[in-house]
Amino acid sequence: MNMMAPPSRNSLHYSCQILLALGLFSLQMLTPLEASRSKVEHLPGFQGPLPFELETGYVGLGEANDDMQVFYYFVKSENNPKKDPLMLWISGGPGCSSFSALAYQIGPFAFEIKEYNGSLPSLVSRPQSWTKLCNIIFVDLPLGTGFSYAKNVKDYRSDWKLVHNTHQFLRKWLIDHPEFLPNEFYIGADSYSGIPVPAILQEISNGNEEGHQPLINLQGYLLGNPWTTYKEDNYQIQYAHGMGLISDELYASLQRNCKGEYIDVDSGNELCLRDLQYFHECLSGINKFNILASICKDDLRMWRRSLTQELNASLSSRLTVPELSCRDYGFYLATKWISDESVRKALHIREGTIGTWERCYTTDFKREIFSTVEFHANLSKKGYRSLIYSGDLDLIVPFRSTQAWIRDLNYSIIEDWRSWYVNGQVAGYTRTYSNRMTYATVKGSGHIAPEYTPELCFPMFSRWISNLPL
Ligand SMILES: *[C@@H]1O[C@H](CO)[C@@H](O)[C@H](O)[C@H]1NC(C)=O
Ligand SMILES: *[C@@H]1O[C@H](CO)[C@@H](O)[C@H](O)[C@H]1NC(C)=O
Ligand SMILES: *[C@@H]1O[C@H](CO)[C@@H](O)[C@H](O)[C@H]1NC(C)=O
Ligand SMILES: *[C@@H]1O[C@H](CO)[C@@H](O)[C@H](O)[C@H]1NC(C)=O
Repeated sequence: MNMMAPPSRNSLHYSCQILLALGLFSLQMLTPLEASRSKVEHLPGFQGPLPFELETGYVGLGEANDDMQVFYYFVKSENNPKKDPLMLWISGGPGCSSFSALAYQIGPFAFEIKEYNGSLPSLVSRPQSWTKLCNIIFVDLPLGTGFSYAKNVKDYRSDWKLVHNTHQFLRKWLIDHPEFLPNEFYIGADSYSGIPVPAILQEISNGNEEGHQPLINLQGYLLGNPWTTYKEDNYQIQYAHGMGLISDELYASLQRNCKGEYIDVDSGNELCLRDLQYFHECLSGINKFNILASICKDDLRMWRRSLTQELNASLSSRLTVPELSCRDYGFYLATKWISDESVRKALHIREGTIGTWERCYTTDFKREIFSTVEFHANLSKKGYRSLIYSGDLDLIVPFRSTQAWIRDLNYSIIEDWRSWYVNGQVAGYTRTYSNRMTYATVKGSGHIAPEYTPELCFPMFSRWISNLPL
């Protein structure tokens, strides 16, 4: 018998019988679930020991405590983890792994963008990591996202299930990490997570008021280009006009014929439909995540498809290797990196739980919340701080749409529109409102602003989280 061969089904069965005989079976089954948090000191592709503290782990949710296993990456603040705030980060999608935020946006490492040649992609440090001054939990939620798994993933994929599961995850995580209970707590999110996150905050706040333990030291939240009203698409027209992507005449005609409603157009309104068709033709070659960036037709399997149907149509080809110059090349490298056995071992991924890792798993998600404006109003009445920012080159959730719902909150203006600066240059514009809400644009940035302009977003975050004006 070749001792090196993987155990056959029979030999596995045989060892189970022995374990059963020894009364160890249940222990054996529980052990991997109990060992649910691990320090990661090295990552394949990163030279030397990690210069930051990374923990990965699972939190079991559900009746039996193991129905649902939620995976997270936790990076301790590189400054003063005891005193610095704790933030939970939830990427958009719905269903994009928060690995996206960790590796491409605000985390301490990034992929080195080099052509893939079969060797493991390399990782480098990101100098503008938000973990320089904040403890961040990057969580894979809803269930089915990233490395989180469940017996029947489909049962847990809706806005409200995501809300409840996140709340439960957080309480359990804090019970496991009581040393972080005193830290100020924030939630950060972007894109689609503009929908669930205000509801999660409200649930946390209600839970605190009802005395649920442990109490969560909730201070506020920040949202980047957040999906909020499902009316975002209506503002694409104004935005495209302002940015010179459509003519004055088409803009006037759209306003005249559609009367401000560009989403639910009456099928009998032929003039409006004709204008919209022209509008979409004008925009068909534009990268909607960043109107100044090149378009990469071959990127696929992106959460973006679920956001707007028009994008769905333009992205329905098979996954191919993106061009090296495309933003998506990094996503491609991630799938190569993370499917490597050595990486999974280093991250302490439970064997056999996830086959192919997908950066975004967007299927079977039930949408239940269609506007979060009232949640924002409720949250700010309770005194929570917020930072809402818009990468100003984003066409998907254009700044006009975000500014419109903020205006609808009727908050009084504390400090009016002014530029904010990084290294003596205008980095965007900001305005502060009563109810501790700060709004900011990030100049020259796209849909996920920290991904495009980390050198601006890091100072923005660091000022805001330190209670300083931008
Ligand atoms: C890929 O390129 C790197 C250098 O960038 C080299 O060290 C490695 O051996 C190459 N791998 C293969 C499989 O050719
Ligand atoms: C996206 O495209 C696929 C096929 O191209 C289609 O089956 C699906 O219904 C589309 N989804 C949306 C939200 O339009
Ligand atoms: C906002 O708060 C009010 C009063 O507590 C509550 O009745 C309402 O349901 C809340 N809104 C949302 C969207 O939860
Ligand atoms: C803001 O004011 C308008 C007009 O006075 C009102 O219709 C709307 O309900 C207000 N919005 C909120 C969130 O209170």
